[in-house]
Amino acid sequence: NGDLPLKGRRLVITAGGTKEPIDPVRYLTNRSSGKMGYALAEAALAAGAQVTLVAATKRPYSPGIDRILAPSAKEMLAAVTEAMKTADAFIGAAAVSDYALAKPFEQKVKKISPDEHLTLDLVQNPDILKTVGQAKRPGQVVVGFAAETENLLPNAEKKLASKKADMIVANDVTAPEAGFDKDSNLVTLLQPKQAAITVGPASKLTVAKAIIDQLVTLLDKQ
Ligand code: C5P
Repeated sequence: NGDLPLKGRRLVITAGGTKEPIDPVRYLTNRSSGKMGYALAEAALAAGAQVTLVAATKRPYSPGIDRILAPSAKEMLAAVTEAMKTADAFIGAAAVSDYALAKPFEQKVKKISPDEHLTLDLVQNPDILKTVGQAKRPGQVVVGFAAETENLLPNAEKKLASKKADMIVANDVTAPEAGFDKDSNLVTLLQPKQAAITVGPASKLTVAKAIIDQLVTLLDKQ
């Protein structure tokens, strides 16, 4: 089984920046390309896993991956909750919008007068990673990301506990070789009571393979 260390394992991976509807033609989103999540899906597939990729962003992917498109955080949570019923592990690589419109407009919003302000009433989205972490069954492994622009490691360390994650991939999105829409990444893998592991700068696929290697170790320890 050395070549396919995830044979027989089911993984759920989220990818991309969510799109929160404003009206029928507009949405709120962020700079995430989905490249890291898609790279993780490819690395997990290559390691023999059955992969469900719940994606807010469209990109090319291998036919062996079961991709479910879920543009908004609410759609993503529903797809993830369903897929986690039979999964061994979750990797939350999506950049989930923290806020969504309380009530999206039913018709396209029109300009009224030049001095008119438009105010959008935003409410907090569900935290998918935290929800999965709290609902974790014995044997399930949960991995999250922490994309930060400051205080990277302290913030990522806090997320390990607050999201009940087994590993956090800390990612300084201001580093030149890391972050949104880049093909490379530079990350630190944090696990409770373990020395931090730095990976990169390297391609997102290489970083994905390193994350999957650690996930294999975590699953084998369960
Ligand atoms: O709290 P913060 O958004 O920085 O945490 C990042 C991690 O949490 C990522 O793994 C991201 O996918 C996940 N997340 C989530 N649902 C949210 C917000 C973040 O799953 N609403």
